[in-house]
Amino acid sequence: MAKKASKGKEKKLQRKEENGKAIQEKSSINEALRRANDVEDLLKDYPAFQQYSRNGLELELQFQKAERLPENVLDWAFTLCKSNMEEFYNGAWGWNDTTKREELSASDARFLIAHTKDERTPVAFVHLRWEKDDTEGWPILYCYDIQLEPCVQRKGLGRHLMKFLELVARKTEMHEVMLTVQLQNADALRMYRNLGYEDHWDQPEAPEGKESAPYVILTKKLPASAAQQQRALKPVTNSYQLENIIYG
Ligand SMILES: CC(C)(COP(=O)(O)OP(=O)(O)OC[C@H]1O[C@@H](n2cnc3c(N)ncnc32)[C@H](O)[C@@H]1OP(=O)(O)O)[C@@H](O)C(=O)NCCC(=O)NCCS
Repeated sequence: MAKKASKGKEKKLQRKEENGKAIQEKSSINEALRRANDVEDLLKDYPAFQQYSRNGLELELQFQKAERLPENVLDWAFTLCKSNMEEFYNGAWGWNDTTKREELSASDARFLIAHTKDERTPVAFVHLRWEKDDTEGWPILYCYDIQLEPCVQRKGLGRHLMKFLELVARKTEMHEVMLTVQLQNADALRMYRNLGYEDHWDQPEAPEGKESAPYVILTKKLPASAAQQQRALKPVTNSYQLENIIYG
């Protein structure tokens, strides 16, 4: 995970100019990003998403700005990320403790944290940011990390979190959800493909002598069909709505 650059600076600039101008005026893009970044309680309108009670898990979700995360939670997030990802990073662009710590504690980093209901032990987190896409010029939600403790993996929680991100991206008027994934991370890739993520048009260049880069940038565009947009704006308060969004 983490965010990685793609290629083609000039191509990007040109596309950004064309798309950025055509689709939204700069000021309205900045306004959408400002509104999203000001959100204090992302889960407020989605009480059904605040709980995760499935496959033996009884969890609660919390939204937090990085600057308000207690030091011990930030340490936990770093340690979990390192133990899940160090090998994948080293197969792609290399692991670096300092870089990862800085990334997790950046002022624009936001976290969804799942913790147990009883002990309030954190077991999973998503690190997200609202940003301007550097190729298209429009506002996007970038998923920097999704990390689950091994004991809560393969119980549907990853899907729950990713579907929530999608809903939030729609609600906050983002054009896409984007993320980076290492090709070696087959389980994660499968999940994203199942959720409808596709290759971004602008991919990293293959290193010399290789057929492709060791990672891929995925995207899920969020065309504003009236029904989807309506759904994102409605509070999600019951399990029927929740099921519909996650598995419908
Ligand atoms: C990758 C990751 C985020 C996926 O989240 P997850 O909660 O484990 O995934 P889900 O349970 O939602 O779904 C993944 C798979 O488990 C299956 N599954 C869901 N519930 C299940 C259950 N009760 N029993 C068995 N399998 C189940 C899903 O059908 C899906 O199967 P498939 O991908 O083989 O088709 C998580 O495993 C993780 O944190 N891994 C380590 C860190 C990592 O790689 N992060 C991604 C970086 S890009």
